[in-house]
Amino acid sequence: MSHISASRKRVTTLSLIEMKQAGTPIACLTAYDAISAGIMDAAGIDVLLVGDSVGNVVQGHETTIPVTLEQMIYHTQAVVRGAEHAMVVTDMPFMSYQASPREAFRNAGRLMKEAGCGAVKLEGGSRVADAVRLMTDNGIPVMGHLGLTPQSIHQFGSYRKRGANEDEADQIRADAKALEEAGIFALVLEKIPTALAQEITEMISVPTIGIGAGPHCSGQILVWTDMVGMTTSFRPRFVRRYAELHSTISEAVGKYVADVRSKGFPTSEESY
Ligand code: KIV
Repeated sequence: MSHISASRKRVTTLSLIEMKQAGTPIACLTAYDAISAGIMDAAGIDVLLVGDSVGNVVQGHETTIPVTLEQMIYHTQAVVRGAEHAMVVTDMPFMSYQASPREAFRNAGRLMKEAGCGAVKLEGGSRVADAVRLMTDNGIPVMGHLGLTPQSIHQFGSYRKRGANEDEADQIRADAKALEEAGIFALVLEKIPTALAQEITEMISVPTIGIGAGPHCSGQILVWTDMVGMTTSFRPRFVRRYAELHSTISEAVGKYVADVRSKGFPTSEESY
């Protein structure tokens, strides 16, 4: 049973903006399926992001580039079935929004209509502002994403921190402003200096959601499999591990294998 009240209302774009105004930090995690979405939802999470990190986490790819719109629709449908209270936001995958604002608008519409998410997220600043404006003018809420933008990995060549020099920091500031003007309801800031994230959080009216962006953002997000310790090799400093599920699951599976081999499972009580 969850300690969260069953009367908890569905999180909306408006409630997130109110949380920023009230100084209440927003708790977000990624989700890719119904069972984990249900657990996180019952535990009180505000936003579940169906991240295109599904490409790394679930599909085993090195980057998020291969993820398709159809796959995002499939995973979002599952997460939406598991989430009663949290707002479900879906990442627009690589090449689903870059070609033209019109194509971006149509694909965002498919995510809302076929997958049932409450909002979409896309990476980039001024270059995607026209697409964002078309969506927000037509009832599609958009979350922006600046700083380290993993879909541009082949352009930048590494997952290093962004905004550490003045040119990059200026670009991020200008992009945040352009996205705010285009109507975003929230902005993910990934792997940028704490002071820059604080400045942007104070500069724009909508909430900022940080990942590796320090404590002054309006909320925080992590990839859920990282924070429960399912991964062993990926350990950047911004990930706090709240559990060690890799060893828990590995021990459980090892015991099961031993019980099956020794015919210790199933017993007569576990049989019909
Ligand atoms: O795809 C993803 O999981 C993300 C978060 C890390 C912000 O974009």
